[in-house]
Amino acid sequence: MISHIQWSWDYVLLFTCSIITFAIYCPKFSSKARLPPGPRGLPLLGYLPFLDPNLHHGYTKLAQRYGPIFKLKLGSKTHIVVGSSDLAKVVLREQDEIFANRDPPIAGTVITYGGQDIVWSDNNNSLWRNMRKVLAFEVLSNKNLEASSTFRRGGVRKTIKHVYETMGTEVDIGGIAFMTSLNVITNMVWGKSLVEDVKSTNLGLEFREVITKIVELLGAVNVSDFFPVLSRFDLQGVGQEMKRQSKILDAIFERIIKERIAIKRDEAGLNNIVEESHLSNLRYLDAVVKETFRLHPPLPLLIVRCPSESCNVAGYTVPKGANVYVNVWAIHRDPQYWENPLEFNPNRFLSVDDGTTKFDYNGYNPNFIPFGSGRRRCPGVPLGEKMLVFFLASMLHSFDWTLPNGEHELSDKFGIVLKKNTPLLAIASQRLPDKNL
Ligand code: HEM
Repeated sequence: MISHIQWSWDYVLLFTCSIITFAIYCPKFSSKARLPPGPRGLPLLGYLPFLDPNLHHGYTKLAQRYGPIFKLKLGSKTHIVVGSSDLAKVVLREQDEIFANRDPPIAGTVITYGGQDIVWSDNNNSLWRNMRKVLAFEVLSNKNLEASSTFRRGGVRKTIKHVYETMGTEVDIGGIAFMTSLNVITNMVWGKSLVEDVKSTNLGLEFREVITKIVELLGAVNVSDFFPVLSRFDLQGVGQEMKRQSKILDAIFERIIKERIAIKRDEAGLNNIVEESHLSNLRYLDAVVKETFRLHPPLPLLIVRCPSESCNVAGYTVPKGANVYVNVWAIHRDPQYWENPLEFNPNRFLSVDDGTTKFDYNGYNPNFIPFGSGRRRCPGVPLGEKMLVFFLASMLHSFDWTLPNGEHELSDKFGIVLKKNTPLLAIASQRLPDKNL
């Protein structure tokens, strides 16, 4: 009898030890105890009611209190925010494979027919791999970028012409930058720009309107995203509104396809002013663009990452399925990595060895990652960079610019893409002797 009891106790002991060992080593069990620190919230709602709508500002403040990795419960979702370049490196590069998935918001799912696009589809599915391959190696290949330089030249020339026509009045810089890029991209994709045809004159504006609305909806705080069980009620109507925008977008594409079939391509020759071949010499402008991306990264929290399995970051467990944000905005302003971080000083990008090489857009330097890093890094870098610098160089070369009130307000408003609170309006005056240059 005694030996039987002894035997049972041995088993109990063994069982207890196994449970403890399991709890320590199994991420699911241990995750609870080792989740990153973070603010407490209300039952059910979590921290949702206290969230600063300017997420990038709010998350930066919370990091000052809780450290470079912290956790928030927002509704039924766990959000993890990483705000130091060391940890960004861990998430985006060292554990790239695990963090390469997304968790699309409802708005993102609706506009992409259920996540059927590069941005929102999962990392490991063949659809994403194929789409990304086509975009990076075909649409945006060096050969294609070279071949399409006439489109960019033509697009920028047109904008210069337009600015000449409106000299002395306020120009919405964001507006003309958007239309120029849109025309260049549509030109590359279907061979003609949106504003080139008389028939399409309003199409550009409609397109801009719908894209602006879509971007807004993607960044909207939507209850359905925090409480997926409520998503079928679509309480704020975000899903419904996105469906409406999706129909408008489809109608625009259908019109364009019909027009493209009907219209024969005719190309007008244009003279050049700034050429793309000059861009590699424009070191200072390159530094200005980089400094602007540093202080105002267009996607301040990148695009949400979603780990495919529970894993360890800085000693904390990041649970599978959590929404992980990398606060690039905070990293780019961190005094640990940047001297006088709030000062706009392009020279910091010039003082490196032979120019600006140490800071490129490939995401290898975790202190400077405006286009993200790792396998989900932006594939549009070559076109985005070329287009932006070319547009800016051309506008600055052809015109002198003044601000209507002498100064400009630089504050921003959070969205998946950061927006200026006050659009930049500026007045152009002629700089070159000949308008036809
Ligand atoms: C100034 C211009 C641009 C900036 C600052 C920018 C920035 C970004 C950022 C930060 C991401 C998220 C990366 C991550 O999660 O690590 C991203 C993703 C992406 N970008 Fe861009 N981007 C720009 C232009 C472009 C252009 C011109 C294209 C296409 C022609 C493009 C296509 C994409 C795509 C498809 C993704 C999703 C990639 C994926 O999930 O695999 N971007 N971009």
